[in-house]
Amino acid sequence: MKNSSANKWQDAYFGSAYLEIYSEHLYEKNKIAAETDFIIKTLKLNKTTRLLDIACGFGKHLLFFFKRAVPAFGLDINRSYLQFAMRKFPASHAKKSPLVQGTMTRLPFQDGAFDAAISLFNSFGYYPLDCPDADLTTLKEVSRALKSGGRFFLEIPNKQPVVRMACENPQTLQCGLEFAIHEIWEYDKTQNLLHNKTTFNVRGKTTQAGYCLRLYTKGELAALFKKAGLSVVGVYGDYNGAPYSRSASPYLILIGKKETSRWKKKT
Ligand SMILES: C[S@@+](CC[C@H](N)C(=O)[O-])C[C@H]1O[C@@H](n2cnc3c(N)ncnc32)[C@H](O)[C@@H]1O
Repeated sequence: MKNSSANKWQDAYFGSAYLEIYSEHLYEKNKIAAETDFIIKTLKLNKTTRLLDIACGFGKHLLFFFKRAVPAFGLDINRSYLQFAMRKFPASHAKKSPLVQGTMTRLPFQDGAFDAAISLFNSFGYYPLDCPDADLTTLKEVSRALKSGGRFFLEIPNKQPVVRMACENPQTLQCGLEFAIHEIWEYDKTQNLLHNKTTFNVRGKTTQAGYCLRLYTKGELAALFKKAGLSVVGVYGDYNGAPYSRSASPYLILIGKKETSRWKKKT
């Protein structure tokens, strides 16, 4: 797939510095394993259910699904991250091509190809993407790619704490011996967009990039799910299954179920 100009910010932000920092220095194996187990339990996944990880990045959850024998496929726009992920799998599994390059706004899969789909860790709400109604388009694509009754697990940052952080503490710094991430946050209330400017430093080499994320309340996201043919069947505030709190939860996790009637063919 060729990169269009719409992919430029992704290329800049999701480059080698992000990959090295998040796959090595900020990689929390136990946390990712626990997240994977919560998803498996919540979506009732097993060795016969086909799962799609949308914007799977460098495959940090995919590896755990593989270890738990859940057939999981990954889609991401970034070819080098997919190549990185592929190298983590045994060759026999990698040969089955479970990873596909593409955009979430046009999923390269047949209708009803999956029993379940997930989108995790700031992978939804990017703006501008490659079409004006990117988020609704993405949800419609997810719905199309799911079987009737199939489930979608979407985790996004919880709006209220994020806006509070951006207003009260607009500069954040995470660092270790070999890396630093300096981030500047700005919340645009009129457009409901979170702007991020990041300076990555890896062993003295600095790169700058950023992104813009549309933030959603539970009600706004549920309305978008409905438009896409997904009914909300679960809401959580974290990966322990805690009830969602608008002011305090780290995440907003919505579970959507593909409505059966919407995509049924007329006979
Ligand atoms: C913050 S990362 C999260 C990756 C992964 N879900 C995780 O938990 O580590 C967001 C990912 O979204 C991907 N991405 C951005 N825009 C995309 C698009 N339009 N279609 C597919 N993937 C996209 C990026 O390449 C990146 O890997």
